[in-house]
Amino acid sequence: MALLSTRLGVLVSGRGSNLGAILQAIDEGRLCATVAAVVSDHRDAGALARVSGRKECAVFVVERGAYPQQGEFEDKIAECLEGERVDLVVLAGFMRVLSGPFVRRFAGRIINIHPSLLPSFPGLHAQRQALLHGVKVAGCTVHMVDETLDGGQILAQAAVPVLPDDTEETLSARILAEEHRILPETIARVFTT
Ligand code: GRF
Repeated sequence: MALLSTRLGVLVSGRGSNLGAILQAIDEGRLCATVAAVVSDHRDAGALARVSGRKECAVFVVERGAYPQQGEFEDKIAECLEGERVDLVVLAGFMRVLSGPFVRRFAGRIINIHPSLLPSFPGLHAQRQALLHGVKVAGCTVHMVDETLDGGQILAQAAVPVLPDDTEETLSARILAEEHRILPETIARVFTT
């Protein structure tokens, strides 16, 4: 019997290295899923190049500035995802907060990757916050998205040391390597059969 492949809708804003990690896990057979849709809120996001030539993946650019209201912007994103019948929405470097109606529309089916050990350092510049606080251990979190900022149920975390001479760049790179590991692993563990 063929396994059902989980249909993913991945929301991105920038370079898309986490999207790349998901695609690599699929290609290597570690994740039984299909990236059915990628939605970017920037037309020049590097993430878009990662899915060029992938026929199974519908690509959408939905820019906030094209919509007078946040709700209309989010409705458009939701239509793109629903049109591709996605089972799970993955926020992978999507740099916008989604409001209640969107979250409720996909209730229990949205996850996010965040570069801190939540509940420490939600929001922007998590790695910078970690350095400013002088923490000795940092990391990343995969969590369910609810109506709070980076506050939903935690599904997975990975820790990395903070070294004495770390900069925001070196710490971010160490954390990012763990993001690339735990995001596909968590999708496979929690959302595939
Ligand atoms: C990652 O650090 C992610 O945790 C954060 O934004 C960054 C996105 O990186 N939300 P990329 O676009 O996946 O390379």
